[in-house]
Amino acid sequence: MKHLLKLLDLTQEEIVSLLDLADRLKAENKAGIPHPILKGKTLGMIFEKSSTRTRVSFETGMFQLGGQALFLSSRDLQIGRGEPVQDTARVLSRYLDGIMIRTFAQQEVEDLARYGSIPIINGLTDFCHPCQVLADLQTVREHKGTLDVNMCYIGDGNNMANSLIVGFLKVGARVSIACPENYQPDAQVLEFAKAYPGKFFMTDKPMEAAKDADVIFTDVWTSMGQEEERAAREKAFEGYQVNAQLLSVAHEGCMVQHCLPAHRGEEITEEVFEAHADEIFDEAENRLHAQKAVLVACMQDVQE
Ligand code: CP
Ligand code: NVA
Repeated sequence: MKHLLKLLDLTQEEIVSLLDLADRLKAENKAGIPHPILKGKTLGMIFEKSSTRTRVSFETGMFQLGGQALFLSSRDLQIGRGEPVQDTARVLSRYLDGIMIRTFAQQEVEDLARYGSIPIINGLTDFCHPCQVLADLQTVREHKGTLDVNMCYIGDGNNMANSLIVGFLKVGARVSIACPENYQPDAQVLEFAKAYPGKFFMTDKPMEAAKDADVIFTDVWTSMGQEEERAAREKAFEGYQVNAQLLSVAHEGCMVQHCLPAHRGEEITEEVFEAHADEIFDEAENRLHAQKAVLVACMQDVQE
């Protein structure tokens, strides 16, 4: 695998082999078996938005793989002062072995890959969050023993919704999503979902989407960069909350997942969050293992 720009680019086999590698790296990590597969390699991590999990899991992951990571805030880089991405890509390609980028426009990530000559990993854009959803797939498979599940997403048709729909459909799951009419997933994703007749269902009624779910996902109503829309969004998403009533129509033992950070009392109740905290923090932990698999798949190829 050369890059991880979006899950739309990956085959089912590529996704499953990343999950298998993530499981192996996790088991080795738990057993204290070192795996310095990327010894001597450097990952640059460009952040144009805030992060807790992505930053810490990528940095720790590179360290555990024997390499190192550089935190590059756009506030300090020349890219934040208008240096073109084409030039940034070509310069950083001369120093680094890979780049992880968190930014706004998906096009910026695609341009880095186009102009640079090293692997590019998408650490979240307005369009998608592929690393998160690889960790989500790993967590669901770990807990349920299969990906042949009914996956439900409640809330904003945002970057998380886009990646969840693509990732879960690609591995054979059934996907139901509930979002308000004006907050539907990206048109490109809805077009992709058309290739899965009978497996994709979209409604504006959360209870319909949650029926018989094996796992329910949600995410914040106001994503990074949308802060000025907060009041309008709070109104639009009233009723799109993961709560006990919603879970009552799901399958028994239904998992609840949240990429975090969570806003208790908005998209999820405190009660549901705490009842499913173990699953949610397993999900957060798996960011580390799933991303190490991505780093190995992308950056090991480069050195050989
Ligand atoms: N879920 C996630 O990507 O978290 P951060 O924004 O903290 O990286
Ligand atoms: N949809 C959220 C995800 C954060 C990890 C955002 O983009 O802010």
